[in-house]
Amino acid sequence: MSSLVIAPSILAADFANLEREVKMLNESQADWIHVDIMDGEFVPNISFGIPVTEAIKRHAKKPLDVHLMIVHPERYVEAFQKAGAGIISVHIEACNHLHRNIQQIKALGCKAGVAINPHTSVSALENTIADIDLICVMSVNPGFGGQKFIENTYQKVKQLKELIRKTGSKALIEIDGGVNLTNAKPLKEAGADVLVAGNFVFSANDPQSVISELKRV
Ligand code: DX5
Ligand code: ZN
Repeated sequence: MSSLVIAPSILAADFANLEREVKMLNESQADWIHVDIMDGEFVPNISFGIPVTEAIKRHAKKPLDVHLMIVHPERYVEAFQKAGAGIISVHIEACNHLHRNIQQIKALGCKAGVAINPHTSVSALENTIADIDLICVMSVNPGFGGQKFIENTYQKVKQLKELIRKTGSKALIEIDGGVNLTNAKPLKEAGADVLVAGNFVFSANDPQSVISELKRV
């Protein structure tokens, strides 16, 4: 089995020291930097937006994995691409025209991701999975860091893996929410390719060694 892609979520970082936090990630075994954008409407919380993403990009030596938890994502994907996103994920629950939204992200030269909430069935992706580069399976209800991992995620990952196999899609499976060293291994065994981790990394005394441990799972 190949090693997992580790994407620490900057949402859990010290925002007063973003440059230091991004440099810490640059020097770690993290593969991507996960950037959570919340609008106070799609989710009941507001995080930060385009200028902060640009500021992260100025120091980042790793791709920015931008997770848009916003309504009307099509209005903002170009701005986030310009701000430095390498991967942009939109929520299926926020898209009336998901296929168009995926094409829009790809036309901008980014990898296209689709995030699904805990209540959304894997089967909702059947008709678009061939075009998707990354599927972000929410393992908490989006909106906040530091929440408890939802156990039903394992069976969703298995279903998704099967759908990917059946359709020949190249999509990677990303898990977002409540990831730690207890669930990382079973998630990998179920078929996960990418793990996002916020609080588990940034609340540790030594975030870089936690990232290395996740990488070694
Ligand atoms: C939740 C966000 C997650 C969050 C993960 O809405 O999408 O990316 O930052 O944080 P932890 O790992 O603390 O659950
Ligand atoms: Zn996220």
